Amino acid sequence: MKDTELVKQKIDVVELVGEYVQLKPSGINHKGLCPFHQEKSPSFMVNRERQSWHCFGCNKGGDIFSFVQEIEGLDFVEALKMLAQKAGIQLTNTFEDKEASSQKNRIKDINAKATAFYHHVLLNTDASKDAQAYLEKRGLTHETIVDWQIGFIPDQWDLLTSYLLKKGYSIDDLVASGLTIKKDGATAGNGKGFYDRFRGRIMFPIWDVHGNVVGFTGRVLVETEKSGGKYVNTPQTSVYDKSRVVFGLNKAKQDIRKKDVVVMVEGQMDVIACHQAGMKNVVATSGTALTSEQIILLKRYSSNMNMAFDADDAGIHAVDRGIDLAVVQGMHIKVIEIPEGKGKDPDECLKANPDIWFDAVKNASPVMNWRFSRAFAGKNLSDPIEKQKIVDKLLPKIVIISYAVERDHWLQQLASRVGVDTSILREDMKRVEQKGPHVQVAPSSSAPAKPVAKKTFSRSEQLFEQYLMAILASGDGSTLEQVQEDRFPQIKEMSLYPLYEKLKVQYTTDRSLHTDALREFFVNSEGENILDVLSLKAGLALSDLDANALKKESEETLFSFHDTLRQIRLSSLELSLRQAEAEKDHDKMNELIQEVQALNTTV
Ligand code: UTP
Ligand code: MN
Repeated sequence: MKDTELVKQKIDVVELVGEYVQLKPSGINHKGLCPFHQEKSPSFMVNRERQSWHCFGCNKGGDIFSFVQEIEGLDFVEALKMLAQKAGIQLTNTFEDKEASSQKNRIKDINAKATAFYHHVLLNTDASKDAQAYLEKRGLTHETIVDWQIGFIPDQWDLLTSYLLKKGYSIDDLVASGLTIKKDGATAGNGKGFYDRFRGRIMFPIWDVHGNVVGFTGRVLVETEKSGGKYVNTPQTSVYDKSRVVFGLNKAKQDIRKKDVVVMVEGQMDVIACHQAGMKNVVATSGTALTSEQIILLKRYSSNMNMAFDADDAGIHAVDRGIDLAVVQGMHIKVIEIPEGKGKDPDECLKANPDIWFDAVKNASPVMNWRFSRAFAGKNLSDPIEKQKIVDKLLPKIVIISYAVERDHWLQQLASRVGVDTSILREDMKRVEQKGPHVQVAPSSSAPAKPVAKKTFSRSEQLFEQYLMAILASGDGSTLEQVQEDRFPQIKEMSLYPLYEKLKVQYTTDRSLHTDALREFFVNSEGENILDVLSLKAGLALSDLDANALKKESEETLFSFHDTLRQIRLSSLELSLRQAEAEKDHDKMNELIQEVQALNTTV
């Protein structure tokens, strides 16, 4: 029997949903308040017999897997894994290579043990008196320290390493976890020549979204010349990839969904201080600029993000690029500004006066306002060269907005403020788009008539997409309902996205597909009609799948498309890298190289 079937047999949908929603029996169903939208009277139904759920208010529905996907923000494979674990079922297909996965598990184990060790040391030893006093001075309560499992490690060579060796972990696994560093020339044997990465530091565990400790951030307690950076993080390991982790998300995700906004701050201490003050939709990146991976992760919970960052920071370029990435992916970004003199970061502002921070978050204003004031600041508008400079700064930021109405709003704003006609800016917009390729223009039905920086798709990507579309266009179209772009943002990046949109419109208006009406739109470069090709493929491979199997097949296809996307990102990174190289922009190059490395070491 298939894994999914086994899991379905073991997990009772009423019990599962009941963990998140208060359910009451109602006829043959159970009934409660929908967890996916705000409502006062219950329209959320669960049916034990059919193992299904549906909300008549927001029209979401599905089986145990889709429920966990929605509520926990997981993809299908993650949901399957989570439910299998709950059901005590060993998956036959674990989606990863056995050996690698067992080392990953051992590293997660090591991280859990280290978390407990650091935390114990902080709470129970004399060596941590200063650390405790420091945390108290910073205003962290005992409850917060326990909740975030904050710890401490005194400044000695190998306290943790020798503790974990005694516990029976191998030196190789300790090194692989990033917690232990091997001295040059040392050999794994007796554990000599190895030392702790984190020494003399307050320790913050970093959890993934499922609540596993994947790494640590250590803040130095006493800054000396030899103490290294103020913050040290776990390096890239098989379980920790800083570009994929969002600090605090495991604790913030439910509130992010409830309030429908992510509050993004810069530091771990800021996140923790906000949560302690009762604002729980707050997260941070761990000492990196925002990445596409993090944005995809966050978008599972909300498409709105209010960001607080140090605007005078030398790192403003990195912040800026992160914002671009988020905007390209259709996120609505607002900027939180802490009033002058009220602290340099949220933590300080909360200390000064919590109301000021709460107001600042509430009054965050669209990122374009912030960009406008920066671009116009100190400029002389009677000088045409300065006017052009303003346009050169702002236009590229406007071009990438994926919502036509919003894009047009800012275009008009810019036109009126520099005193030119919007048609002039539209002319200029074409030039900006042609310069490409550092940010991809999101495909949208109202994009300018001639999309210039067109993505080229390899043959295998095309086949991929065609196969997916074939699945979606098969049957009565109900698969489209399951495979929505908000759950699978990858769809938007496909060259056949317009076809997807058309299919969806048909299905939503007519509850059926009549692909004949779409024929004329889709002729490929070889002159073939894509729909003919698709229906051929569908007839060949998919004719004996039922609706459920079609849905599964399309989800699996989408997951493997993830990999393809990685390839696309890689090639676009390489392009930017060559450009940065030509411009001798070394900072940019380093940044890009790191991104390429990160992409290459994670699969
Ligand atoms: P900051 O250095 O701006 O924080 O780093 P801060 O507010 O002064 O620090 P505290 O409040 O005294 O503790 C903000 C974030 O940047 C990352 C960390 O994630 C940190 O929380 N960072 C900073 C590093 O990764 N390495 C560093 O050396 C410094
Ligand atoms: Mn701070």
